[in-house]
Amino acid sequence: MIKLEHIEKYFDTSKGKVHAVKDVSLNIKQGEIFGVIGFSGAGKSTIVRCINLLEKPDSGKVIIDGEDITDYSDKELSSVRQSIGMIFQHFNLMPSRTVFDNIDMPLKRTGMKKEDRIKKITKLLELVELSDKAYVHPSQLSGGQKQRVAIARALACDPKILLCDEATSALDPKTTASILKLLKTLNEQLKLTIVIITHQMSVVKDICHRAAIMENGEVVECNDVYELFANPKTELGKKFIETSGSSENFLKLLHTKGKLEFIDENLPVYHLTYTGNATAIPLMSRLYANFGIEANILYGNIDYIEEKPFGQLCVQLFGKEPNQDIEPALEFIRKMGVSLERIK
Ligand SMILES: Nc1ncnc2c1ncn2[C@@H]1O[C@H](COP(=O)(O)OP(=O)(O)O)[C@@H](O)[C@H]1O
Ligand SMILES: [Mg+2]
Repeated sequence: MIKLEHIEKYFDTSKGKVHAVKDVSLNIKQGEIFGVIGFSGAGKSTIVRCINLLEKPDSGKVIIDGEDITDYSDKELSSVRQSIGMIFQHFNLMPSRTVFDNIDMPLKRTGMKKEDRIKKITKLLELVELSDKAYVHPSQLSGGQKQRVAIARALACDPKILLCDEATSALDPKTTASILKLLKTLNEQLKLTIVIITHQMSVVKDICHRAAIMENGEVVECNDVYELFANPKTELGKKFIETSGSSENFLKLLHTKGKLEFIDENLPVYHLTYTGNATAIPLMSRLYANFGIEANILYGNIDYIEEKPFGQLCVQLFGKEPNQDIEPALEFIRKMGVSLERIK
């Protein structure tokens, strides 16, 4: 549905040229929810704005649904842009217009008759569960409701693609969850292809099928979300995973402080990552039964990503006997298909 080939983008600034996007190629499939994650300044917004050519790449190709639109004129682009909706962090609604009129704006441009527009807007408001808010102004709405209006407006012309630039970054966790749920429903019901820019790995974990991790204008890793979590290939990938769940607090403490008072400093800390079948093995009790190795669990969690289990444990391992070699137990853990990393 969306093919970006070798995109390069530079900006001229007062401080000189900024190389914002470096040789980025992405292939986003019809009907998928694709995440673009990275820290601020990584080039996420720029690359996503290249999809509807709000940003014109300096080189490379943009192919939408089989059509090479890279060199389209503004006039040709306006019809392509109708098939690509977009929502933003700060909603970008017109404050002086009602919810109804905000959604009506893109419809008016299509020349649709008034009665058809009313029907369409009524349906859209039902879809985003705001039927009772048609005639209020945006200032009377909560952040989550404003984003729902923005979503309804973005869907007004029945786009094939929805681009979301940090659409949940200004929202609290509960509202974020409800907006993500709505996006997932739209993806499933309308077979809408969705591209989500975020700096939060939890957003990627919750609804994306695949994701690209960006750093300094480059895609450093791109994979199925489950694979990104189970086998991160880059340091940046690992860092984002650490910030996606509750292991965040433990690992952050350990990394920033270097030591924790309640931990026996002489024992190494291991980070175990389980995926698939390995989650079904009673690993800790096997370690004790087979090797006489005890585990002090410092952190543990099993998450479900795309309905597949993904477990994490941080443990200190020690033998029943003083100075007992734990290497055979580590070997056993690896053999069980659990990835094992010594983190301290
Ligand atoms: N219109 C612009 N003019 C000049 N520099 C820009 C412009 N847009 C983005 N940049 C620069 O390009 C880089 C990538 O920005 P951006 O794509 O907004 O990153 P992200 O969305 O990941 O935070 C940054 O260094 C940013 O300052
Ligand atoms: Mg951005």
